Amino acid sequence: MAESEPDSEESDGADEATETETEESEESEPDTDGIVPVGVKLGSTRTVVVYPSPDGEGPEIVRTLTCLATYEDVLTGEKRVLYGEEAAREYPDRVEFMLRSGLPEDDDSVESASTFFTELLESNDVPENSAVVYAIPTIDNEAGLNNLEAVIENSQIGQELVRSYPESLCGALPAFEDGLDAINDIFVTVNMGSTNLEICAYRRGEQLTPLSTGSITGNEADRRIANYVEEETQGRVNIDLTTAREYKEEHADFESFEPFTDVIQQPGGGSHEFTIEDSVMDACNEYVDEVVDEVANGFLPELANSYMKVYQLALEKPIVLTGGMACLPGIADVVEQRLSEEIQREISVVSAERPDLAAAEGAHEIADHLTESL
Ligand SMILES: Nc1ncnc2c1ncn2[C@@H]1O[C@H](COP(=O)(O)OP(=O)(O)OP(=O)(O)O)[C@@H](O)[C@H]1O
Ligand SMILES: [Mg+2]
Repeated sequence: MAESEPDSEESDGADEATETETEESEESEPDTDGIVPVGVKLGSTRTVVVYPSPDGEGPEIVRTLTCLATYEDVLTGEKRVLYGEEAAREYPDRVEFMLRSGLPEDDDSVESASTFFTELLESNDVPENSAVVYAIPTIDNEAGLNNLEAVIENSQIGQELVRSYPESLCGALPAFEDGLDAINDIFVTVNMGSTNLEICAYRRGEQLTPLSTGSITGNEADRRIANYVEEETQGRVNIDLTTAREYKEEHADFESFEPFTDVIQQPGGGSHEFTIEDSVMDACNEYVDEVVDEVANGFLPELANSYMKVYQLALEKPIVLTGGMACLPGIADVVEQRLSEEIQREISVVSAERPDLAAAEGAHEIADHLTESL
């Protein structure tokens, strides 16, 4: 079974992968006749599912890489499936990230995504008698969104209800003190994902002037890191995009970046140790500059043009950063500073404690609310 990482208050809970506890759930289903709220975020890099823990203590959080590998059982000849970190680690040669482009694009990726999701739900005993809210990207791709819907609708969970809400709306809720009540406010969100940057204003849940671009992304930052590492090491070191992503997730830090060393095996034997000083933060700084430019010069003028009053109200509130790239330590302060400068106005920027989990956590809160009226 794949490993999943429990919610951790520490910012880098990512290292301590442990099995999600499932033993108790056999005997004591949570609230046997009660419908259970489940929040889901099926993302291109990672999937997060939030549901009530069997013992009633705080929600259970599964966070895992969105990938799948199949192998043949040597004893029975049957096809077996592995997902998540275990699949990526043990089968790097054939692991499949079926949502790499963001959404399931065709029948094959719907099937792979369904297999992945079913395995994940089964091995964590996510309750079937549930009301599911899942986060969807704000993107003009109806076929892809229908495919995502099919994956969730056809899964074993959500027997009572399945509903989708925008990822950036779900992801903003945990950043506000009043949680779900914030859904009735006016605010701007910037959702920083692997394949997309989404910016929009919300007015009581209604999206105003949504903007989405595939050119300012976590994946692009990874590509740059890989290129810069090659330059910084005078061509001696080539890293793949997974390694670049890991460098970013483990080392990038706007507050206290420390140069780090790594070792590569030379093709002819022996190893080469190298130190990275600039590559990671250069790429991350460029990423932030591009985000700030897009918000200041793409999104905000459009919002001001179409909804002047809402623009004024929204800028009195903090702008909320969501999505995995918002996990970069110190990024909210850096965006706040550079954006205030760019638009010549003091604005504030916040994010949830765990922006990578926030969309699923917010979806779970919405599901919890919907469950009450079932
Ligand atoms: N702790 C972290 N530090 C830095 N970056 C992180 C961290 N955790 C995740 N990321 C980055 O965030 C990105 C994933 O964000 P997210 O999970 O919001 O994307 P997604 O919803 O799957 O993608 P998209 O909606 O763009 O298709 C990846 O680039 C990943 O490397
Ligand atoms: Mg996303």
